[in-house]
Amino acid sequence: MSGTPSPDKLPVGIFLSGRGSNAATLIQAAADPAYPARIALVISDRPEAPGLAHATAAGIPTWVRPWRRAQREDWEADADGALRQAGVGLIALAGFMRLFSPWMIQQWPQRIINIHPSLLPAYPGLETHARALAAGETEAGCSVHWVDAGMDTGPVIDQVRVPILADDTAETLAARVLVEEHRLYPRVLSAVAQTLRA
Ligand code: GRF
Repeated sequence: MSGTPSPDKLPVGIFLSGRGSNAATLIQAAADPAYPARIALVISDRPEAPGLAHATAAGIPTWVRPWRRAQREDWEADADGALRQAGVGLIALAGFMRLFSPWMIQQWPQRIINIHPSLLPAYPGLETHARALAAGETEAGCSVHWVDAGMDTGPVIDQVRVPILADDTAETLAARVLVEEHRLYPRVLSAVAQTLRA
């Protein structure tokens, strides 16, 4: 994967803060020569994020800087510079636990996607599975959406429904939804990359 980049693949920058299982599935999918995107850079706001190991193992460059609320503008400006330098044409958020400023959103119009573990617009934000269970929902799921300045509010591109079982806990539901996230995100990234390349 770290060989000569293919010119017809869309370079993608992944942002992550933690485990990075979705990032891993995107990296794995993009290793297929027929996949229309390649992962050009992985960015994290947490040096200790376990997900960074997936990038390193695949020979993908990383850009890592601890996030300081008061220095968000500098963090974003420098991350933006790193993305430009890597030739990135699309940002894929994968468990990135920060909200971009309106400035960052404006730098990447229709160029940022995110995965969220709920059937958006229902249950944006944190603790989605616990909240869905507490509300007595019978269905959960996951969504990939365009990112705007709000919290998980941009237009949904695609989503997968997951039935809630009678004995589900937030943990068992999260695990079943995660399986679907790992199918959905590579599929949507492929479709978006094909559109942007065209
Ligand atoms: C996933 O559930 C994703 O939908 C949400 O944060 C979680 C990240 O998990 N945005 P991972 O880091 O990809 O394993």
